[in-house]
Amino acid sequence: EDAEKGGYEHFMLKEIHEQPKAVQDTLLRRIDDDGRICLDGISLTKEDLQNITKIYIVACGTAYHAGLIGKYAIEKMARIPVEIDVASEFRYRDPVIDEKTLFIAISQSGETLDTLAALREARSHGARILSVCNVVGSSVARESDDVFYTWAGPEIAVASTKAYTTQLVCMYLIALYLGDLTGNISREYYDHILEELLAMPDKIQQTLDKAPEIEELARHLYNRTQVFFIGRGVDSAVALEGSLKLKEISYINSFAIAAGELKHGTIALMEPETIVIALATQDRLFEKMYSNIVEVKARMAHVVSVAKEGNDKIEAESTEVIYIPQCDDEVTPILTVIPLQLFAYYVAKIKGEDIDKPRNLAKSVTVE
Ligand code: G6P
Repeated sequence: EDAEKGGYEHFMLKEIHEQPKAVQDTLLRRIDDDGRICLDGISLTKEDLQNITKIYIVACGTAYHAGLIGKYAIEKMARIPVEIDVASEFRYRDPVIDEKTLFIAISQSGETLDTLAALREARSHGARILSVCNVVGSSVARESDDVFYTWAGPEIAVASTKAYTTQLVCMYLIALYLGDLTGNISREYYDHILEELLAMPDKIQQTLDKAPEIEELARHLYNRTQVFFIGRGVDSAVALEGSLKLKEISYINSFAIAAGELKHGTIALMEPETIVIALATQDRLFEKMYSNIVEVKARMAHVVSVAKEGNDKIEAESTEVIYIPQCDDEVTPILTVIPLQLFAYYVAKIKGEDIDKPRNLAKSVTVE
């Protein structure tokens, strides 16, 4: 087993560090020599896509969090309405589906029972099934009309990391492809986002290089019992993933909420030294997010912000700031999640927890 860990202490840390390569592999498999997204091996035609009036994205756990970002991207770029649901709810709620529905299942293992059952439910109503899977030939992949593989390589740690970032890449590629086809995005925008994606492996590496800084932060905060993650726009979805990582392996009670919702309840929980991890990477929403940070800081919270390099303004209201490299708002989630994965990892490590096999959790849940 030690040999398989390639010199890392845990599979999770190894997989976190494999993300530049995993993202690169996933991207390059789907971009041709002319810099266009290619759907080789996928039977979905242009005509099929033109008949799609609605998309469902269904998944569980971390894959569901990737789906949330997919919804933002597809609706923005393709202007097709996207509904998203967790598989365990979708399969029992009599969803409105017909042959004009594209059903996207996201699953690292391709064996999650709820996701598979939701897929079967969608198929029985005539939906076309596209899946985003990491395991070639898995049940979800076999039962789909088409598969968009993430080329993350085997993921062993229960807490998913490289599967998530590669799922994000697939969601952006699908969104761009659909946006191009529906004529909602210009050639310039298409090229710009692809360029931003191609720059991601290097930028992920730059973010990973901050591991010592994040380990230090974990050393200060590991003994807390409660952590809140807040964000707006795509950051609210990344907040959910950061919170899940922390609770899964460190057993700290963590909670994620869209920052604008704080005032409707959660702000009541703010006390001096409450830890708030504030994701503030969206230029478009920065002023709104800044106000939320001011609100929690006014209650003496300990605010750890994640922001883009060059954003000095945030320092005034934050106890600490973790910077990610500059990039387009749209694709920040691929970077924003990296410090959150590292934070969860180091907190669990300092607490002495069984990082790769957290209690009560399974890598793949094949029962209901
Ligand atoms: C389990 C794992 C999670 C994973 C979820 C969905 O709960 O512990 O890490 O996100 O299943 O798994 P899937 O293989 O369908 O992506």
